[in-house]
Amino acid sequence: MELLTFAGVGKRFGDFVAVKDVSLELPAGRLTAIIGPNGAGKTTLINLATGAVLPDRGRLQFNGEDITRLAVHHRIRRGLSRSFQIMNIFPRLSVLQNILVPVLARRGRAGVPFHGLEKEAEAVAEARRILGEVGLLELEHDPAGALSHGDQRLLELGIAIAPAPRLCFLDEPSSGLTPTERSTVLELVRKLSSARRTTFVIVEHDMDVVFSLAEWIVVMNRGEVLVEGTPAEIRGNHAVREVYLGEEFAA
Ligand SMILES: Nc1ncnc2c1ncn2[C@@H]1O[C@H](COP(=O)(O)OP(=O)(O)OP(=O)(O)O)[C@@H](O)[C@H]1O
Ligand SMILES: [Mg+2]
Repeated sequence: MELLTFAGVGKRFGDFVAVKDVSLELPAGRLTAIIGPNGAGKTTLINLATGAVLPDRGRLQFNGEDITRLAVHHRIRRGLSRSFQIMNIFPRLSVLQNILVPVLARRGRAGVPFHGLEKEAEAVAEARRILGEVGLLELEHDPAGALSHGDQRLLELGIAIAPAPRLCFLDEPSSGLTPTERSTVLELVRKLSSARRTTFVIVEHDMDVVFSLAEWIVVMNRGEVLVEGTPAEIRGNHAVREVYLGEEFAA
C-alpha cells in the first residue's frame, strides 16, 4: 500500500525551481534510496514530505489522508519523521535526555522542563529501549556533544525513530563518517527496517551503500525525478550514468 504519495508537487525559492512537478509513491515496507547530484532537490523533497516547506503546487497524501498543508507536528503525530543532513542533537543534554525529548512529545508531555525529563518513568523506560536498539545504552548518561561522530549519528537515528514513525526519512545518515562507522549506521538502518514497522527512505551519496541497502532507487536531477527502479535497473540506466558521468557506476 502507498504510504506517502507526491502528486505533481513543485517548490520554488524565488525564481529558482528546487522541486519541479514530482509525482512519487512510497509504499510501506520498501527501503527506498533517493540519490542525485548536489542541489538536485533531495532535501527539499524531504522538507516537503515532513512539512518543513510547503509546496507551491501539487498534493501530498499520507496513509490516504491529504497532508499537503498540514503542520510539521501533526505529520509527526500521524507517523512521518526524519533525521537531518546537518547534525541535530542537543549537545549539552545527555544521550538519554536527547531521546526523551521526542518520546515525551509523542506522549503529549512536550512541556516537561529539561531538568524534569528523567522523572517520567515510563518515558524513560521507552527511551532506554530505543537507546538499546541503536546501541547507545551504555552511554546514556554522557553529554551528547561528547560522543564520537559515529555515535552522534546513531543518536540522531534514535531521535528519528523515537516518535515511532510509519515512514522515516534519513538525510545522509552516514555523511562524514569513517568507513567502519558508516557500515555500523547502515547495518542498523537495515536491521531497524526489518525489526520495526517503520519504512525508511534514505538520501545518500555513497553508491556502495545505496546499491547494497536499497530495494528501490529514486534518481533526482535538477528538481525532477529522472528515473526510479530496482538497483539493477538503475545501475544499467543510461540517463543515470550521464548524470553521474559514469564514475560511481563504473563498478
Ligand atoms: N530555503 C531555501 N531558499 C533558497 N534556496 C533553497 C532553499 N532550500 C533549498 N534551496 C535550493 O534548492 C536547491 C535544491 O536544494 P536541496 O537542498 O534540496 O538539494 P539536495 O539534493 O539535498 O543537495 P545536497 O546533495 O547538496 O544535499 C539548491 O540549489 C538549494 O540552494
Ligand atoms: Mg541535501
